Amino acid sequence: MDRRTLIAGNWKMNKTPAETESYIKSFMKLLHNDSRIEVLLLPPFTGLERAGKLLSETTIALGGQDLHFETGGAFTGEISSEMLKACGCSYVLVGHSERRALFEEGDRLINRKLHAALAAGLHPILCVGETLEEHRQGQVEERITSQLGADLAQIKAAEASLVVIAYEPIWAIGTGETATPMGAQGTIHVIREWIAAAYDQNVAETMRILYGGSVKPENAASLLHQPDIDGALVGGASLFPDSFAQIVAASH
Ligand code: 13P
Repeated sequence: MDRRTLIAGNWKMNKTPAETESYIKSFMKLLHNDSRIEVLLLPPFTGLERAGKLLSETTIALGGQDLHFETGGAFTGEISSEMLKACGCSYVLVGHSERRALFEEGDRLINRKLHAALAAGLHPILCVGETLEEHRQGQVEERITSQLGADLAQIKAAEASLVVIAYEPIWAIGTGETATPMGAQGTIHVIREWIAAAYDQNVAETMRILYGGSVKPENAASLLHQPDIDGALVGGASLFPDSFAQIVAASH
């Protein structure tokens, strides 16, 4: 089954709208079009409108880093799916480990956000991953499958195929430590098997599952050439047009 590679750059809380514009202009010059690879940028909310305008004539996709589960109303500080779409977003991150750990987002909230993203026609990228402690204690499978079960509750097979999953071991995020290609492949294979059991073989074979956690130009190819790894969710190395373009090139 051919799954289109997805290389996503999560800028986290970095870059003003002006920096977003200069990044996109430089990045466009470095990128070689290849229809087998989808490139996605995830700037902070304040950069989305400008990014959307610059990317509208390109093949680069745009996404938000989070959303609220309601479509509008008295939710100070929040952003709705409609607002993301109005800026040109087609993707949204849901349940990033920083949202879970630093902003106390639990699986129930993440599940509501997933439903909201799907109802709006956005592709959610659901992030799952274990802590260092869980990793050391051999609880990776248990942790990930419990997140998947709770986060995907009441999501039907037809919608599940629109979901992208990102496996991001928390101990590998921003630390320079990367899961080994075999280790990441093993866990992502477990995720795919879980999806096959929870839904069906077709959903499992069409669903894209990414790896994230200290992906760099130097390690990208070995991770991306694993059979179950369909792309990367890149943090730090996506902040520089040249290193992000090198990661895209490594996935060819
Ligand atoms: P780093 O690539 O900086 O480790 O971040 C990974 C990440 O959290 C992407 O969402």
